[in-house]
Amino acid sequence: MKVIYPGSFDPITKGHMDIIERISDKFDEVVVAVLVNSEKNNLFTLEERKQLIKQEIKDYGLKNVTIESFDGLLIEFAKKIGSKIIVRGLRAISDYEYELQIAHINSKLYEGLETIFLVSKAEYSYISSSVVKEVASYKGDISTFVSENVAEKIMDKLIGG
Ligand code: COA
Repeated sequence: MKVIYPGSFDPITKGHMDIIERISDKFDEVVVAVLVNSEKNNLFTLEERKQLIKQEIKDYGLKNVTIESFDGLLIEFAKKIGSKIIVRGLRAISDYEYELQIAHINSKLYEGLETIFLVSKAEYSYISSSVVKEVASYKGDISTFVSENVAEKIMDKLIGG
C-alpha cells in the first residue's frame, strides 16, 4: 500500500522524520510530497528542500521512501500517483481543527481518499519549521529539532555559516 506524506518541509525536521520513519515501517511505500508553491515565504528552494529530505532518508536507512513534488491540489497528485491515503502528523489540538477541515475537503473532492493521522512524539509536538528557523536566526541551538546536516544548511542560509 502506497501512502503520501505531504508538506512544505522548509526544512524537514526531526518531527517530520519521526512520522516518516514510523509510516515507512507500516506501509509498503511512502511518497514524501513536497509542495512547490506554498503561500509561505520559503527559506529553501524546492530543490534544496528535496535534497535535504533525500539526505535524511538516506541517513535513516529508509528503503521504501521516495520524494516527489506537487503543485496545485493534493488530490490531483494522489490520483496521478495512484494512492488514496494521505498521512498527517498531529502535534497538538490546535492542528486538529485545520487538519480535519482539509481532510473533509479532500475526501469530498476525491471519493475514497482517506487521511490517517499519527500523533507526534511528545518531544516534537511543539516544533515547527518556522520556530526552528527563528531560533537559528538568533544563533540558538537547534540540534534537538533538526539533523546536523539540516542545521548546517540553515545556518549557511541565515548567517553565512
Ligand atoms: N513535526 C514537526 N513539525 C511539523 C510536523 C511534525 N510532525 N508536521 C507539521 N509540522 C509543521 C511544519 O514544519 C510546518 O511548519 P511551518 O508552518 O512553521 O512551516 C507546519 O507544521 C505546517 O505543516 P506543513 O505540512 O508543512 O504545511 P501546511 O500545513 O501548510 O501544508 C499541505 C499542508 C501541503 C498538505 C496542504 O497545504 C496542501 O495539501 N496543499 C495543496 C493544496 C490543497 O490541496 N489544499 C487542500 C484543499 S483546500
